[in-house]
Amino acid sequence: MTQSSGNSECKGCNINLLVIFINNEWHESTSGKKFPTYNPSTLEKICDIEEGDKPDVDNAVEAAKAAFQRGSPWRQMDALSRGRLLHKLADLLERDRVILATLETMDTGKPFLQAYFIDLEGCIKTLRYYAGWADKIQGRTIPVDENFVCFTRHEPMGVCGAITPWNFPLLMLVWKMAPALCCGNTLVIKPAEQTPLTSLYIGSLIKEVGFPPGVVNIVPGYGPTAGAAISTHHNIDKIAFTGSTKVGKLIKEAASKSNLKRVTLELGGKNPCIVCADADLDLAVECAHQGVFFNQGQCCTAASRVFVEEQIYPEFVKRSVEYAKKRLVGDPFDARTEQGPQIDQKQFDKILELIESGKKEGAKLECGGLAIEDRGLFIKPTVFSEVTDNMRIAKEEIFGPVQPIMKFKSIEEVIRRANSTEYGLTAAVFTKNLDRALTLASALQSGTVWINCYNALYAQAPFGGFKMSGNGRELDKYGTLAGDTGIHPKPPLSLCGGIWASLAPTWTCLHL
Ligand code: NAI
Ligand code: MG
Repeated sequence: MTQSSGNSECKGCNINLLVIFINNEWHESTSGKKFPTYNPSTLEKICDIEEGDKPDVDNAVEAAKAAFQRGSPWRQMDALSRGRLLHKLADLLERDRVILATLETMDTGKPFLQAYFIDLEGCIKTLRYYAGWADKIQGRTIPVDENFVCFTRHEPMGVCGAITPWNFPLLMLVWKMAPALCCGNTLVIKPAEQTPLTSLYIGSLIKEVGFPPGVVNIVPGYGPTAGAAISTHHNIDKIAFTGSTKVGKLIKEAASKSNLKRVTLELGGKNPCIVCADADLDLAVECAHQGVFFNQGQCCTAASRVFVEEQIYPEFVKRSVEYAKKRLVGDPFDARTEQGPQIDQKQFDKILELIESGKKEGAKLECGGLAIEDRGLFIKPTVFSEVTDNMRIAKEEIFGPVQPIMKFKSIEEVIRRANSTEYGLTAAVFTKNLDRALTLASALQSGTVWINCYNALYAQAPFGGFKMSGNGRELDKYGTLAGDTGIHPKPPLSLCGGIWASLAPTWTCLHL
């Protein structure tokens, strides 16, 4: 390993964070290769990053394995102290919240206020939540037959791999890192190639907090190289991944072909948002709008199949179009901006191609439908009505600012249609009728069902999918379990109702 002099600087932020983080030290890549990261709102290169590959992953795994050895400082540390380190990390995220939100906005193009109030808030709260769990993970004593004492101990897995996506780079990292560390594991992390900056900044905070060397290692690089080196590694005991279903399958395959490492997958969604005729229409229109357009539409939870009961369909479409036309698209550092650019050219092209398919297959384009001229990767908020289930925009994950609105007549019909997808991540229901709410909540094949709210995600409640939306759960106590739990927890039945205020810059969650 070559240790870096540590003088690399990130343009605009003056922070040394461009290099591979192993054993609490910064290293150049073994191959000498670097890769660029871009600001998607200006299309300018921000800086070059050391490009990790298999030899760098091997070094990181070696460090993580040594840090996990019996008798190591990390293994000897008591559980309360592990929790204290996580609290300290949360303190440093609070201290550096502006820097981290700025880096996240530069690297992803998401509006700064959303990075600051949503992503960073989620990170800090998740760290504190798992800091509290560290000394509360207990086994059981079991009265077995005959005269024996039987008890269970909950042991850390060992070396955990984490491969993260570009839509919530820091938040997805923390969702994986916090439970892994609270249980006493060590980590090798590969951030998405589009967005490595905040993950690497976390490396400097890990060192400052005083985690023993080798407990957290961060190897930036590409998926088929550095990512695959993690998923195929024989000395990694568990892997947690958020990203595409396609790569999720590759990871499970690699796990089974190597050492049968445990796998947690958070994959795609084509999430039904069901609006019944008796719903509070203002609330439903606003939540459905935020549900699909939030984060430039780049959410696995996106409300990208809106089913509206026929009596209120015309009014719902009219109001949704008004919302979409008012949505402010522009510079993510402008406090008024609600929508920034898409992450990269590949995603931008994919979204425009799906929009074209919607036009060709006969959906009615109500607004948007185009890129914003002369502005790189920005796409106009797009609403389609008269969408039918066979259209590609009703079947494929769009991951962009596109709202397909469908019509339904009966509850049985909408349950069948909502469930006829290979995905099952989240669902939402808008109704004032408790019977309908509970019937739909139990009938929908979905890891989460939101009632009269959207994207109500909290560290205390488990998150994950049915069917091809993934395996295992993140957050909550389930997030400390190593793999499939054998049952599908499906709790967040938020009857309390929460809405997001529509206007930037304020973001609030109101409890009704
Ligand atoms: P992706 O699945 O390729 O990227 C996610 C992560 O996986 C990145 O860190 C990437 O480097 C890594 N990766 C890629 N190939 C790998 C391999 N062979 N082995 C190990 N790791 C690998 O997703 P991509 O191409 O960026 O986006 C494609 C689509 O995936 C999006 O349009 C969207 O539909 C979906 N997606 C879903 C996300 C979610 O939150 N569930 C997040 C990002 C993308
Ligand atoms: Mg970038």
